[in-house]
Amino acid sequence: DIKGFVFDLDGVVTDTSRFHAQAWGQLADKLGVDYPGLGDAVKGISRMDALEMILKKGGLENNYSPAEKEALATEKNTNYIQLIQNMTAADILPGMADFLAELKDNGYGIALASASKNAPTILAKIGLSDYFTKAVDPASLTNGKPDPEIFIKGAQLLGLAPTQCIGLEDAVAGITGINAAGETSIGIGDCDLLHEADINFSDTSQVTLANIKHVMND
Ligand code: G6P
Ligand code: MG
Repeated sequence: DIKGFVFDLDGVVTDTSRFHAQAWGQLADKLGVDYPGLGDAVKGISRMDALEMILKKGGLENNYSPAEKEALATEKNTNYIQLIQNMTAADILPGMADFLAELKDNGYGIALASASKNAPTILAKIGLSDYFTKAVDPASLTNGKPDPEIFIKGAQLLGLAPTQCIGLEDAVAGITGINAAGETSIGIGDCDLLHEADINFSDTSQVTLANIKHVMND
């Protein structure tokens, strides 16, 4: 029986993936790296891993020292922080505030499994911090998504086995991680891209307990 939900943040609870895409795009342009599909490629990927992906795409991975790479990642983050500055509850994706309330009312566990070090800031801005008192600290991870570590730790925070949890993701790397953790995966967005998910919803407004129970034949 499902007893808990492990949430990605960017692109699931709120539409920050466009800001990540924009800030990484700015940096890729500056580095002279042409990266078609950059926005989807960086979804779920940690800050330093995303930087490495961009440098590799341009054949630049050996052109920068570790300190210079840190500076590039910080530059991206500074631009990103500008973009999320004015976020409010209006930036919660359709249906997600209701879904969180529904989960809480029905006694389900709720945990956050976001790779983003900006997650606490964003949750505060959109007014959802109270739902996510259980959050995996991305700084504590040995491996980022697609590794299952963050989803396994999310289930642990809830005191549940992974098989008792559903993970929600908009990223291919995230779905891979949820599946490898042994949780049930819900992919939100393009169902061709997220075809590895156990359950697909084209957008967040479809994510309700009734719809999930329906597709799980519960
Ligand atoms: C999320 C986003 C990624 C982002 C990562 C790290 O997983 O989907 O695009 O790179 O978080 O975010 P941060 O805010 O720590 O740079
Ligand atoms: Mg995401």
